[in-house]
Amino acid sequence: MNEEALQQALTDTQNLGEMPDADAVGTVGSPDCGDMVRLWIKYKEKDGRKVIDKASFQSFGCQTAIAVASIATELIRGKTKEEALAMKADELSRPLGPLPPMKIHCGQMVEGALRAALEAESTATPASAAPVTAPDQAGTLADALSAAGKTAGKVKIVLTS
Ligand code: FES
Repeated sequence: MNEEALQQALTDTQNLGEMPDADAVGTVGSPDCGDMVRLWIKYKEKDGRKVIDKASFQSFGCQTAIAVASIATELIRGKTKEEALAMKADELSRPLGPLPPMKIHCGQMVEGALRAALEAESTATPASAAPVTAPDQAGTLADALSAAGKTAGKVKIVLTS
């Protein structure tokens, strides 16, 4: 992994935070490590095509997941849903170089959150201007984690220290 690119993504993290006016949102949690990523997408029309205007994320995850999400939310700007769906974790994290085996799932979690957001949007009614937020997708990741704590078996959260 390119440590310099990792540090750059962590010290200058892009697109971090909730997006209240998003068109779609996707959340993925890793059963391996208990980390979570939520990703918001906003579309726009450009040259007759519907493309991703911007994306943002929240993460309760490791540094690699945050770095990949920062990079990925930049890389997908201007892409159509189909183009973004075609991007795999290794492409979304390419500036970081190949991830070590124990960190591959971190990139896959970001890919999963992106895919969830893209697919969530595809089920929306075109006339709907409201953000696509399934009940468990509404609010912040902190809300989801809080709710998850009340839903046994879905997410395991271990507090240290
Ligand atoms: S997302 Fe689980 S260790 Fe990185």
